[in-house]
Amino acid sequence: MHFELLGRDGAGRLGKWHTPHGVVETPALLPVIHPGRQAIPASEMHAKFGVRMVITNSYIAWRDPWLRQRALDEGIRQLIGFPGPVMTDSGTFQMYFYGRTIEVGNAQIVDFQRRIGSTVGTILDIFATPGMTEEEAGQAVDTTLARAREAVQLRGQGERFPHEAEERMGLALPVQGGTFPALRERSAREAAQLDAAMHPIGGVVPLMEQQRYRDLAEVIAASQRALPAGKPVHLFGAGHPLVFPLAALLGCDLFDSASYSKFAQDERLILPDGTAHLRELEELPCACPVCANTTAQELRSLPQQEREGQLARHNLHVSMAELRRVRQAMRDGRLWELVEQRCRAHPALLDGLRALAGHTAWLERKEPVSKPAAFFYTGPETLTRPTIVRLQQRLLTHYRSPCDQACVVESSRPFGRHVAGLWAKARNHGIQLLVKTPWGAVPAELDDMYPLAQSANPELWDRDAGKGFTRHLDAMLAAHGWKLLDRAELDALPDPERGEGMERAHVAAVCDVQFGRGAGDALLRGELGFRRSATTGKVRNVYSQGEHVLSLRASDGLFTLKLAGARRLHERPGLRVVVDGDSAPFQREGRNAFSRFVRSIDPALRPEDECLVVDEADALLACGRIVLPADEVGTFAKGMAVQVREGIAPRSPDAA
Ligand code: GUN
Ligand code: ZN
Repeated sequence: MHFELLGRDGAGRLGKWHTPHGVVETPALLPVIHPGRQAIPASEMHAKFGVRMVITNSYIAWRDPWLRQRALDEGIRQLIGFPGPVMTDSGTFQMYFYGRTIEVGNAQIVDFQRRIGSTVGTILDIFATPGMTEEEAGQAVDTTLARAREAVQLRGQGERFPHEAEERMGLALPVQGGTFPALRERSAREAAQLDAAMHPIGGVVPLMEQQRYRDLAEVIAASQRALPAGKPVHLFGAGHPLVFPLAALLGCDLFDSASYSKFAQDERLILPDGTAHLRELEELPCACPVCANTTAQELRSLPQQEREGQLARHNLHVSMAELRRVRQAMRDGRLWELVEQRCRAHPALLDGLRALAGHTAWLERKEPVSKPAAFFYTGPETLTRPTIVRLQQRLLTHYRSPCDQACVVESSRPFGRHVAGLWAKARNHGIQLLVKTPWGAVPAELDDMYPLAQSANPELWDRDAGKGFTRHLDAMLAAHGWKLLDRAELDALPDPERGEGMERAHVAAVCDVQFGRGAGDALLRGELGFRRSATTGKVRNVYSQGEHVLSLRASDGLFTLKLAGARRLHERPGLRVVVDGDSAPFQREGRNAFSRFVRSIDPALRPEDECLVVDEADALLACGRIVLPADEVGTFAKGMAVQVREGIAPRSPDAA
């Protein structure tokens, strides 16, 4: 079983989980199927709803003698009639929910799940309730870990059972620890050492029932900090689509839900932004196949069982649609926008979003440096997004200007067109022109770069934007030692005879912000040449001393490295991905570098950053683009780490 990464956004991942019984695109919803009674037949879920994996409860099957025998005889997948992978749970939740011990032990229920051919089986973990003391929750973590170790041992023992897959049942090893972040981290770190197929985050149902989304966000973040990126993470019992975008942004790949049927039993409709009781609805605010073909009145007049089935179908349609929306938002680089929109559905969810501001350091490491989509301001929370925090930080630490004064102007974009003359005049007098934006005090030569060029914000600022700008301006003045000059003072200065062109400064500034302070000096030596786009006139290729060192990507205004540029950056520290000797010849030829061959990596590299591929003696092999955050590369058994653009010794096409 392995997890393949196809894309990412925030700390969220778009993936493909390869199981012995089929491939699951993630983030995915696993509807809960009752082994004895199905609100919607499992085969219909597969055929009509796009469900690719389901979860059922092995304890419920085990407890009932007739179901137990059928599960053992036919296998669980046959019993429930689902043609794809089936995860089973263990009875932990029943123990918690009914507040009693159950008559089956960990070894026994794990063995049973193997015998019935579960694709992934769950250990009998201990559900730490939010009311537990830290000591009690710690003991629950210890017991859960002991049971995880026992299950890992058992899984490899004995002969393979007839319904069991060739590679044997995968194990779900849950993270527990209540609402204690340190316990969550320990639980996750130790579970991650074991041979798991995936890691559920458990014990969160009461948080969701009580709409404690802030605690939920804290629990997920604490668990994720210590979980390996290379395995899917499941959020146990998360069934309402309200939480999907936020949880997916925090790296949850799998959700399971009985909500679609439980809500239907109570005659309630799940909606992307809440829940409604059928009796309250004059109209159906939904376009699913059920709602498109009926009315609230008609639904109410159906016989009870039929009504429940139709409501369950509506609920499942809405839930599946929200996951499609989440996956598409990831592809588009718009997951943060979706989360910010959805979290406005309830103030408690807004707390969940706002709690992320306390996790910027972790989130920033995961955040791609470039996205295919525009960057939208949706409200004050946007200002704490990792992309903005990173930009503001890099302007303080990476950017460099020859000036000793600064002057703030307001400008619409592109700054390069609107304030180029003023910029040249200011520069001539040793004054750095800064543009007032909600993203901070931005040097005027930088507006072509992601996220600035692609950003959109309201013209009417709120107070947070104003305060954020002032704070960043003060930090910029301090960091760069600039004295602040009034606009009137700048205007009063004489115009220069001939101003410096903005182009060279623009290219140097992007180099510094993108690759680190001083990178512009290393890359842009001596005589520079530019090749421009015939249509827009914008710089495309940058030549230094006759060598093509950089190309500017039109989509995001960031540079891609050419080999000549990589050689120059190689004289400086950083940006390195060190590969194994076995892999080095391939990168030298220009082939991609796989995660399992990466020996070490510059911890400052972020997804989509340009990088240098070197061997263990630091000889340059290639340049390319890293697709993972530095801290994740070691956790993937399969898949690419660096998309190589150019190797130092490309194979000629005719060499066989
Ligand atoms: N279902 C909902 N929460 C949990 C949990 O914490 N553990 C298990 N095994 N199942 C669950
Ligand atoms: Zn509907």
